[in-house]
Amino acid sequence: MKNLIDRLYLKNDLSKNDYAELIRNHSDSDAEYLFSLSVKLREKYYGKDVYVRGLIEFSNYCKNNCLYCGIRRDNRNVQRYRLSKEDILTCCAEGYSLGFRTFVLQGGEDPYFTDDRICDIVYSIKQKYPDCAVTLSIGEKEYASYKAFFDAGADRYLLRHETADNSHYSKLHPPEMSLEHRKNCLYDLKNIGYQVGCGFMVGSPFQTAENLADDMIFIRELSPHMVGIGPFISQHDTPFADQKNGTLEQTLFMLGLIRLTLPNVLLPSTTALGTIHPMGREKGILAGANVVMPNLSPKSVRDKYLLYDNKICTGDEAAECKHCLQMRMKSIGYNIVTSRGDCKSIKEIYQNEF
Ligand code: 5AD
Ligand code: FES
Repeated sequence: MKNLIDRLYLKNDLSKNDYAELIRNHSDSDAEYLFSLSVKLREKYYGKDVYVRGLIEFSNYCKNNCLYCGIRRDNRNVQRYRLSKEDILTCCAEGYSLGFRTFVLQGGEDPYFTDDRICDIVYSIKQKYPDCAVTLSIGEKEYASYKAFFDAGADRYLLRHETADNSHYSKLHPPEMSLEHRKNCLYDLKNIGYQVGCGFMVGSPFQTAENLADDMIFIRELSPHMVGIGPFISQHDTPFADQKNGTLEQTLFMLGLIRLTLPNVLLPSTTALGTIHPMGREKGILAGANVVMPNLSPKSVRDKYLLYDNKICTGDEAAECKHCLQMRMKSIGYNIVTSRGDCKSIKEIYQNEF
């Protein structure tokens, strides 16, 4: 296995079979070896810096019915909420004073938030905080909508592909959703000029090592600026209520593989990782991640944006997550930085080297 890891480190690429073999058959010591290289690469590009993104979960209404997701349309036990533009701007003001220079607006696919409303919100944030990046994470839209958001000032867009295998995709989603459409959205976003993030859940129901290998091949091909991954965690009111959760170990291994495949990628150590293990986010950083996304949503709505069970950070003040993460990163020798935290190009890194 170590020879495959070496090859990935040197060439940033493997065949699907080699990825699958590594994912299926690695030992603990292979994983340790992988992390030594992923941390080395991450530190070459980003040093000991960990970027922060202030996450604003502005609506839990969703017209979709993804089988894994706690805010799916058919879940009648969710108390639905929407933040107003003013609420969102208040979150940004609070975040700005805490040092956040990226705001991530995340929500379900909520028809109330028309293109005009999203554009107005994005434009207002950029007017007030021109030194900040705005990231949208609001699902599948038409090209023209993505373009309008971009023209209003949005810088980045997160849209997890969820799985790069068609038949696996159809086991996680209702028939009206397709992987093909999702991939097209990601390519549209890239063509428009967004910094784009894709991603997937680790250990989602019916997932095989080959599926994860396909995720790696897709990531290599799309070559996004960001990749968001976290363990699948069951939610009690979904069709997947009784399915097994993804593991810490496998999520960390995938983080390591992603770092070796896209050395300069922005890679969050996610809340889901912190939910399945008390030190999950620290371990994620030590496997090659370099971003954390503290929750900036108002306290009153945090316990309503529950995509999965036992989600952490649902009861604290916004400031507490920032401090908590600052302390957690410090405890493993890393520091939170409050710049925009753009993806570093390979060219930029070479310029620093010489
Ligand atoms: N467990 C883990 N992650 C989930 N997501 C949605 N539901 C779950 C779950 N039950 C992830 C999806 C989505 C992102 C916003 O959250 O990957 O794209
Ligand atoms: Fe939210 Fe620790 S990061 S409480």
